Amino acid sequence: MTEVILALDVGTRDAAVSIAEKTGPYLDAIKIGYPLVLAAGLTIADELSAGGLPLIADFKVADIPNTSRLIAEEVFSHGFSGIICHGFVGRDSVLACVDTAHDHGGECYVVTEMSHPGAVDFFHGGIAERIAALVCETGADGIIAPATRPERTQMLRTLIGTRKILSPGVGAQGGDPSAIAGIVDGIIVGRAIYESADPAGAAQQYAQFRSLRGTNP
Ligand code: C5P
Repeated sequence: MTEVILALDVGTRDAAVSIAEKTGPYLDAIKIGYPLVLAAGLTIADELSAGGLPLIADFKVADIPNTSRLIAEEVFSHGFSGIICHGFVGRDSVLACVDTAHDHGGECYVVTEMSHPGAVDFFHGGIAERIAALVCETGADGIIAPATRPERTQMLRTLIGTRKILSPGVGAQGGDPSAIAGIVDGIIVGRAIYESADPAGAAQQYAQFRSLRGTNP
């Protein structure tokens, strides 16, 4: 099954809880990051994780190893099951997040290439491929790769084997779920669900793509 992961980038605690409750039956995980945590505080994570769905911390951690470890420790003490870090910071910083995640029974995903147009400025030209190699070396659980460029994500799949790929960019950024869901382990959808007049209905639509898993391995 290709998982459906809600990027819950709303600006208030009430909106977050309300949308999570409405869409929860059609989701496999919820991802939160700076927009919600800066608005509502990290305790929103305790509240959302109590709902029973796995919670992924998208802080795209990119710091020296000690600071990265401190951030990851804080994340895993608030009910998260996964953390996202950047790969360009290098092996030691990635390892700090991977090891801290594993110490807590959690997972660490590494951004290999972002989904927005400007991502090509630096991630193309061999960097994404080097980050994918680092993912395998460090024992990270998977990568974040773009739904907006399925051919790139397919290429990254050949480099990381069966490690997980979670893919943002579906919906608002133009990524087509039918083109990416067969390649990846999870699609990440934000605005196309939480800005919808009917978030539960939108989430239910995306849940239909769960069955595409592995159809384009
Ligand atoms: O609203 P939308 O569906 O575009 O949200 C995508 C989510 O995925 C946002 O939280 C964004 O920060 C995140 N993300 C991304 N591209 C990456 C990594 C994370 O869009 N490469």
